[in-house]
Amino acid sequence: MTEPQSDLPDIYYPDETTLKNARIRDWQQVEEEAAADPVAYWEKRARELTWSKPWTRTLDDDDAPFFKWFVGGKTNIVTNAIDRHLDGPHKNKLALLWQSEDGKETRTFSYFSLNRAVTKMANVLKALGVRKGDRVTIYLPRIPEVFFAMLACAKLGAVHSVIFAGFSADALTARIDDSESKVVITADGSWINGSVFPLKDIVDQAVRFSPTVENVLVIKRTGSEVTMDPLRDHWYHDLTALPIARGACETVQVDAEHPLFILYTSGSTGKPKAVLHTHGGYMVGTYATLRDTFDLNDGDRYWCTADAGWITGHSYVVYGPLLNGATSFMYEGGPSYPHPDRWWSLIEHYGITTFYTAPTAIRSLMRFGDAWVNRHDLSSLRLLGTVGEPINPEAWRWFYEIVGQGRCPIMDTWWQTETGMFQIAGVPAMPQKPGSAGRPIFGQVAEIVDEKGDPVPDGTEGFLTLLNPWPAMMRTLYRDDQRYLDTYWNVYAGRYATGDSARRDEDGYYWVIGRTDDIIKVSGHRLGTAEVESAITSHSAVAEAAAIGLPHEIKGNAIHVYAVLNPGHQGSREMTEELRAHVATHLSPIAKPDEIIYVESLPKTRSGKIMRRVLRARALGQDEGDLSTLDG
Ligand code: PRX
Repeated sequence: MTEPQSDLPDIYYPDETTLKNARIRDWQQVEEEAAADPVAYWEKRARELTWSKPWTRTLDDDDAPFFKWFVGGKTNIVTNAIDRHLDGPHKNKLALLWQSEDGKETRTFSYFSLNRAVTKMANVLKALGVRKGDRVTIYLPRIPEVFFAMLACAKLGAVHSVIFAGFSADALTARIDDSESKVVITADGSWINGSVFPLKDIVDQAVRFSPTVENVLVIKRTGSEVTMDPLRDHWYHDLTALPIARGACETVQVDAEHPLFILYTSGSTGKPKAVLHTHGGYMVGTYATLRDTFDLNDGDRYWCTADAGWITGHSYVVYGPLLNGATSFMYEGGPSYPHPDRWWSLIEHYGITTFYTAPTAIRSLMRFGDAWVNRHDLSSLRLLGTVGEPINPEAWRWFYEIVGQGRCPIMDTWWQTETGMFQIAGVPAMPQKPGSAGRPIFGQVAEIVDEKGDPVPDGTEGFLTLLNPWPAMMRTLYRDDQRYLDTYWNVYAGRYATGDSARRDEDGYYWVIGRTDDIIKVSGHRLGTAEVESAITSHSAVAEAAAIGLPHEIKGNAIHVYAVLNPGHQGSREMTEELRAHVATHLSPIAKPDEIIYVESLPKTRSGKIMRRVLRARALGQDEGDLSTLDG
């Protein structure tokens, strides 16, 4: 990471246009008001949305940390994301604009036509027996149908579980089985840099022995040959041609605390955690935070580059923008195919005003040089955003000067799958410091503490904790309340443990440093060392393995694996390639190790736990720290 250069400003103030357009100019006052009564603040925000039955209690903390929000209230996130716009000025406004990877296809949906598409999908799911509370797995590329599928589930009160369409069959099986999904929604394939990735084949492998999956719904996207099981698999276009797909479909009114989705994310053991979010609080939180931090307005064309398979895709591609009646743009492909200016050309062509992406993408595009950006007219942009990992000041300044042309504030947003919504983020009128995510959102208190949970002075690095409950917080880990308590609430009594290290400066700005646990952020993707290790040790040549993250110029972190091979196997370049491919097919291509180092043994504690900390310190040439528990 590059340190700030002394001749460049370390604080950037909003310009006059940003200030003039800012919905919240007096942010200090809002911050103070929300701090004085956070529950009243969230109650006020919830009133901006539609409820079929008002809540009787805004925050129920009787059973903390199993917090409940808007108790007694009834709504549905779809009532607010779609239905309420149909009676108002947004009915014919564009909700979604989509562009295919090859650039040949554009699809557009007004709120009216989005409703038609979601209703059709909901009718089909209903005909397949999906009811309130049932789980549905969604394994789709970045195509409009991912919106329809998520919203259709929500409309019926069913619970969606979206799996990033880069996960392998093994990973998919584990997640489908754990959620006991009845239906899987997928496509015949996805386009990745001009080639087809066989999504349906992967689903076939994943559900072969599934005890719960009754139906697989297949969207035709690539036209590739797939095998269809006549009893289980259905082409979506065949079902939508039937009378079952026609007619209206009620948006089921559910309790505010009714589950909306589960989303699997990596933890510090091999088994991924299923984070559970609910309708009411999640709806209020994603609506309000996107509105404030991005200052969304009716003239905006908003583009968040995240995939719907991650939390950013849930909160700020699908739900947040629709709750705000915004126009979202979705692009099927990646940033640099077929050329490194693909994204810039899309911003120019579609007149994108607000652009939200990850530091890793910024760093990888920066590498190609300014000329790729400068050949495009990016004057439509008014605001930029980043998420997923700390942004180094050098990348921040490039994003600010070259992409934003020194005109657009950059909203660095810190949050997690578990938090559901931003927790540390500015508003456009707030001055920004490159590399800092800013201040806690209105109504939140973040404290940096030491190992015992005592607050540390400003400027000192420590563990980042959150003090106030917030509406979009996860409610629990699906069917694992104990793990929810142990991972997040029993570490420091009365605080939510984020797992990140950070420091606060004298102005109250937070500087997030990175994870303190066995999670590695690789290109902004969250991976557990245990998942990578279990994928690699499933290869017959490997006896034991330890995965660590080491700093990487573009990806933020890269995975390095230390492997002990079984007798009769040799570490070689071929073996490394084989093991990398093995991780790709058994977990995901995003988890492929950068380096595999063959060793005779791994440093372990006397109780047999691998000391990854020691491996990391050795690799970085740092002090290995306390070795008193090291075995031998
Ligand atoms: O380490 C923090 C990092 O991403 C983690 C959460 O990962 P995930 O659940 O995949 O959600 C990512 C998208 C919200 C955090 O614990 N992180 C996220 N945003 C930032 C960040 N680190 C620094 N700055 C950020 N803006």
